[in-house]
Amino acid sequence: MLTKPLEQTYFVIDFDSTFTKVEALDVLGEISLAGRPDRDDVLDQIKAITDRGMAGEISLSESLRLRLKLLNAHRDHLPALVETLTGKVSDSFQRNRVFLTDHADQIYVVSSGFKEFIVPIVTPLGIKEDHVFANTFEFDEAGNIIGCDCTNPLSMDKGKVQLIRDLNLDGDVYVIGDGYTDYEIKEAGLANRFYAFTENVMRPTVIEKADHIAPSLDEFLYHNKLSRSQSYPKSRIKVLLLENVHPVAVNLFEQEGFKVEIRKGALDEDELIEAIRDVSILGIRSKTQVTRRVLENANKLMTIGAFCIGTNQIDLKTCMERGIAVFNAPYSNTRSVVELAIGEIIMLIRNIVPKSNQMHQGDWDKSAKNSFEVRGKKLGLIGYGNIGTQLSVVAEALGMEVYFYDVVDKLSLGNARKCKSLDELLAIADIISMHVDGRPDNKNLIGKREFDRMKNGVLFLNLARGHVVDVPALVEALKSGKVGGAGVDVFPHEPKTNQEEFVSELRGFSNVILTPHIGGSTEEAQENIGNFVPGKLLEYINNGSTYGSVNFPELQLPLLKDSHRLLHIHANVPGIMGRINQIFAKHDINIRGQYLKTTESIGYVITDIAKNYSEEVVEELKRIEHTIKFRLLY
Ligand SMILES: NC(=O)c1ccc[n+]([C@@H]2O[C@H](COP(=O)([O-])OP(=O)(O)OC[C@H]3O[C@@H](n4cnc5c(N)ncnc54)[C@H](O)[C@@H]3O)[C@@H](O)[C@H]2O)c1
Repeated sequence: MLTKPLEQTYFVIDFDSTFTKVEALDVLGEISLAGRPDRDDVLDQIKAITDRGMAGEISLSESLRLRLKLLNAHRDHLPALVETLTGKVSDSFQRNRVFLTDHADQIYVVSSGFKEFIVPIVTPLGIKEDHVFANTFEFDEAGNIIGCDCTNPLSMDKGKVQLIRDLNLDGDVYVIGDGYTDYEIKEAGLANRFYAFTENVMRPTVIEKADHIAPSLDEFLYHNKLSRSQSYPKSRIKVLLLENVHPVAVNLFEQEGFKVEIRKGALDEDELIEAIRDVSILGIRSKTQVTRRVLENANKLMTIGAFCIGTNQIDLKTCMERGIAVFNAPYSNTRSVVELAIGEIIMLIRNIVPKSNQMHQGDWDKSAKNSFEVRGKKLGLIGYGNIGTQLSVVAEALGMEVYFYDVVDKLSLGNARKCKSLDELLAIADIISMHVDGRPDNKNLIGKREFDRMKNGVLFLNLARGHVVDVPALVEALKSGKVGGAGVDVFPHEPKTNQEEFVSELRGFSNVILTPHIGGSTEEAQENIGNFVPGKLLEYINNGSTYGSVNFPELQLPLLKDSHRLLHIHANVPGIMGRINQIFAKHDINIRGQYLKTTESIGYVITDIAKNYSEEVVEELKRIEHTIKFRLLY
């Protein structure tokens, strides 16, 4: 927080790797050395010298001298350099142009780089040209860069210190930079605070000297309560990812600027309570139990991503009561299930499993008996949702005739034919595959009565849920030959760990393919999940959208544009909406859009308002009785 009024506060900003993402002389080297066979070697040498200088290992004048010599650059290279650097302005500086222009009188760019490229980059973003202090190149008559103006203090050691001393600024000085020379200003007693800027590089020797680490300009602005592009700096949002969540998810969160902590395994309740205290986003798979006790200790938690299909491991009700939105990845493994189903159908219809087992015993039984093609066979799908429909398309591509039955009136894909009743489907299909959801009503959906109605020798697949099939009835049907072969991936009772024995009456049939609930378990599905879930979580964090949430009222919101967005989560009691709008009316606030959705127990109101508002409004909204969580986005 600033201690003096803004007019008496000065911001000294470094250029290379702070204002821009890169070191300009490295980029100049890439341009000037283009086409030379030793280019990469020389560039590595230049980078190493830059780093040694920045870390304080060699003097600045030495570093400059060595690099200029290696660069072999020319005046004609400068336009290309400026063009490249224009696209390399640090993201948080781009985002906060308003700060740079509004406070142009207070901002100085001080760099041991060169004015020839710094001025054209920083002035379009609002920096005053006479507030840029940097070196200037020395050229020979042919335009080659042969050195720099050695009388400029910025070409010398402790040059920044000297410059700030000479500037004699009347007020507080805050320095933002990534290098040791930036810290030296503070060390010399000429700055009140030094912020190590880490958006582009992290230099341990610099970080350890800093008063504060600024992973972005937003963090600096937030820390000093200055106006900024993000209400809450993303670098302050901590993500905890457990159970080996796919690396694509880690990347997505890091790219967003969040702080990400990864743990390989699941955590038990006490460990999770300890780890979750300052976490805003939690990512888990199926093993981590998110209990009420955990949630009571998770005061910053905004959202949970289940990087799997099921959400039984999460206390969804408590999440809702505490305003925590939960998302999962219900359809990311659809294709994987479909492919396994197709594979099993072919294996069963060709009678491959018994043949393979015989071969392992040394028996060679070459015959076409009981082996068929899938082409032209009638496939009956029970449940025509995500998996059923996709299987329908792939099966047709193999030449199968597809029939389906669903309790909901579904549009047929391709040439698939709708059956009016389950019995109609049972009577017609050569192969029957279950793809209904696991609602309790579906318990024993297929039992003795249904098997009796099937064709003799039918092939039967259950890759949906264990309880939808009456297993003893299936066993009878297998024994009697009614069912000629089966593929079963899901069971009423499944072992909790890989150590527990799999116990089932289905064991021992040579014409039954048994798989341990792996229908959806592929690397691709994991990657899909790794992409899908962060997408949902980021939409919620950045935009407030809850579309696809398993426990929250679902709202799909327009992107935030030139407005502030206020997100208010409250217990669903009458009158809250009225109270919210009374506050807006009292403060004469123009509402641009308002969205409300409720569940039985909570309400979620989003209000987009014109950009001017007072802190008082926010405080009053937070104080409304029954408020669970309040957030402001801009
Ligand atoms: N084996 C695995 O690893 C694995 C992986 C993913 C999904 N699944 C399971 O696959 C099943 C299907 O998944 P999905 O994503 O297609 O689900 P979905 O919700 O998209 O589709 C289910 C369909 O079944 C229909 N349905 C429900 N009850 C029915 C009934 N009694 N008769 C006829 N139709 C009925 C629904 O109307 C819906 O169209 C689910 O049970 C899911 O748990 C298993």
